Amino acid sequence: MKMSPPKFGQVLVVDDETELMSALVEALTLQGYEADGFVSGKAALEALERQSYDLVLTDLMMPEMDGIALLKAGLKIDPHLVGVVMTGHGTVPTAVEAMKVGAFDYILKPFKMTEVLPVLARAREVRRLRLENIQLRETVAIYNLSQTIAFSLDSKLVLENSADAALQQTEADEVSIMLLTPENRELYIAVVRGRDREHLLGQHLSLQEGIAGWVARQSEPLILNGEVSDARFAPIRPRAEIRSAISMPMRAAGKLVGVLNVNSLQSRRSFTPGQIKALSILTSTAAAALENEALYSTLEAREKHFRALIENSSDAVTLLNPEGRVIYTSASARRVLGYAPEELAGQNAFDLIHPDDRQTMLTGFIEAAQKPRQVQTTQLRVRHKDGAWLWIEGTAQNLLAEPGVEAVVVNYRDITERRRADEKIENQLRRLSALRAIDMAITSSLDLRITLNVLLEHVIAQLRVDATAVLLLNRHLNELEYAAGRGFRGASITRLRLKLGEGYASQAALERRTVSIPNLAEAERPFTKAELTADEKFVALYAVPLVAKGQVKGVLEVFHRARLDPDPDWLDFLETLAGQAAIAIDDAQLFDGLQRSNIELALAYDATIEGWSRAMDLRDKETEGHTQRVTELTLELARAAGMSDTEIAHVRRGALLHDMGKLGVPDSILLKPDKLTDEEWVAMRKHPQHAYDMLSSIHYLRPALDIPYCHHEKWDGTGYPHGLKGEQIPLAARLFAVVDVWDALRSDRPYRAAWPEEKVLEHVRAQAGTHFDPKAVELFFQVMSEKAHEPKQSAG
Ligand code: C2E
Ligand code: SIN
Ligand code: SIN
Ligand code: FE
Ligand code: FE
Repeated sequence: MKMSPPKFGQVLVVDDETELMSALVEALTLQGYEADGFVSGKAALEALERQSYDLVLTDLMMPEMDGIALLKAGLKIDPHLVGVVMTGHGTVPTAVEAMKVGAFDYILKPFKMTEVLPVLARAREVRRLRLENIQLRETVAIYNLSQTIAFSLDSKLVLENSADAALQQTEADEVSIMLLTPENRELYIAVVRGRDREHLLGQHLSLQEGIAGWVARQSEPLILNGEVSDARFAPIRPRAEIRSAISMPMRAAGKLVGVLNVNSLQSRRSFTPGQIKALSILTSTAAAALENEALYSTLEAREKHFRALIENSSDAVTLLNPEGRVIYTSASARRVLGYAPEELAGQNAFDLIHPDDRQTMLTGFIEAAQKPRQVQTTQLRVRHKDGAWLWIEGTAQNLLAEPGVEAVVVNYRDITERRRADEKIENQLRRLSALRAIDMAITSSLDLRITLNVLLEHVIAQLRVDATAVLLLNRHLNELEYAAGRGFRGASITRLRLKLGEGYASQAALERRTVSIPNLAEAERPFTKAELTADEKFVALYAVPLVAKGQVKGVLEVFHRARLDPDPDWLDFLETLAGQAAIAIDDAQLFDGLQRSNIELALAYDATIEGWSRAMDLRDKETEGHTQRVTELTLELARAAGMSDTEIAHVRRGALLHDMGKLGVPDSILLKPDKLTDEEWVAMRKHPQHAYDMLSSIHYLRPALDIPYCHHEKWDGTGYPHGLKGEQIPLAARLFAVVDVWDALRSDRPYRAAWPEEKVLEHVRAQAGTHFDPKAVELFFQVMSEKAHEPKQSAG
């Protein structure tokens, strides 16, 4: 199905593999693009000379001329051309090279069409943004220029300045202004800028001749955005020379006074709508000057003309004396710069300019003084009355050449927004290529440290922050641990460990959202780790959770030593980078897990675990069978709690090994038939830590550690080893604790006899909300009552 062609959809496809090239052209045509294909860079360049394209999709490795050379040359022909390169796996660094010379994106070969289309769609958007931005800039700049040009009442000066500006704006080869002779029968060429000046200047042509003649007769503009081949035109030079042209009638007081002509000779050129608009502004300025010269012949009339121009200007206009002091300011200056005209009178204009831009201003001023006939345009920062720096496009003309005027007129137009828009586009492009570079680091390296370091380098460069770090979540310790960092002055960050719950990083991880502290001094609380602020003098912090496949992997933090008030794009990019980091971590952990579990599998068969657990029960004779019983009941609770099969496999191993750590407790304590002393308690309470130490090095068992490590934590936070509270305690451990205590109490221990069943159940119920998770207790009684109602297995 043929779709409507997208705007900015002219694509040049270049690949020395003929089949691939043809297939791409065909597929893109089906998608509504206007695609032309070539097998060599040279042929493609020739096409680019002949016709305008929005996008170039090119292979990188080609005999004769490679993709990079093609792009470089193409960008000379059309600086706004958007390039996408296609590359094989081995040549990814070359693709990055291509992006440095101006390619917008790259596609890895082999690819599917579904991968190409989104890249081209983005490229099209970039083309649109670039052209729109250029267009806006051209129109605004030329309007500003024409305002200043119009101050002059010397028509010859105005015509020359207009022709200069037209040449500059269109980047064409020549501009001429032809005026109608007094008898209205001929056009004579009054001003020429660019090529062929000697040949053209002063020539006459009849109204029956050439493009200009046609325009003068019809009194309407003619835009020839292509080969000038129409037989209607018999130009005064060999026709083949002119490739594209714009011709505009000049009218003053409704009457035709001349024609402004722009020609492009060497190569076909498409004039942009912005350029065409610019020309029409310049044409009316030039025409008005011819009219004004006659109108304002007296000094008094001239002064009136100036005042009218100044007062009607929407820009801020000042007249400066040759030393740079303000003689006159338009009322509109108050809107643009914040000052009333009286406030500026007598001030030195330099005092308002940003120190970094004073040299630019001075140079412009000197040039204006030396070349009074020329209009100077500069961009610089000017202080608004409220203290803010505005970006201004200043256009200046020295009016010394005007009889009776001794001043430089300066037009100030606020272009702050435009500068911001430019920066935004630049940032977007830089960020896109940064993301590609990170993608590459992720796919080409499974070493997490390398990937994270590449990523953090980009964080610093693209987000312009002082320091950044990745903290990884240790699921067994419930701690965030430093993994990689950049930009820190001291080493204390490398020792950073935050318990979940501590610090802003934890907040990001637990709430799964970005925590923004633009200014620590205004935040609700300081850093938890005071040494971070003391050594590093950070003022701002942003913490973003790293989430992959629904799991929090860690936190990406950025720090700045000054206040940060980022725009939404910045935050968006920060979060995008965090997404990349999470993917990298997930990839590396998957790979890590795979590798290690393969090695350790032999060690870690479940049979081995069961062997261990039986050996433990044997040591602690009285508890024989305890482990099997608690394991079975815990699994039932875990199922009732809705845990997945994988989780249940870990729960099983964890329950079997729950008191593994008692292997580290001496017999004298473990088998003591009496109450424990304080010292003995200290040793006994180490058994969860012993279990962690023994088992955590076995990767296969890491996910099973929740129970051995946390089964003595209590819901109200009074347990050990860490005093975790509520849901900080892993669910498996919360379920297990109920079962463990229930089974311990109904068994004989060296230090006491078994309790009656009712007393045990009452104890368990009573401890809900203090020792135990109330939900775990509820599940426990639910499972117990189901068991009670089951038919008895055997009559005995
Ligand atoms: P265990 O015997 O497997 O007991 C596990 C848990 O069940 C205990 O954790 C405790 O929460 C509960 N529990 C067991 N017996 C009693 C009891 O008589 N009264 C109450 N209210 N709760 C009981 P806990 O307290 O952290 O003890 C951990 C381990 O320390 C015990 O494992 C046992 O091996 C040892 N232990 C505890 N108390 C003594 C003691 O008085 N003498 C000796 N020799 N060992 C003790
Ligand atoms: C864990 O969360 O796996 C252990 C709890 C702790 O000891 O912090
Ligand atoms: C961090 O979040 O990295 C430490 C700063 C804090 O204590 O919140
Ligand atoms: Fe225990
Ligand atoms: Fe136990």
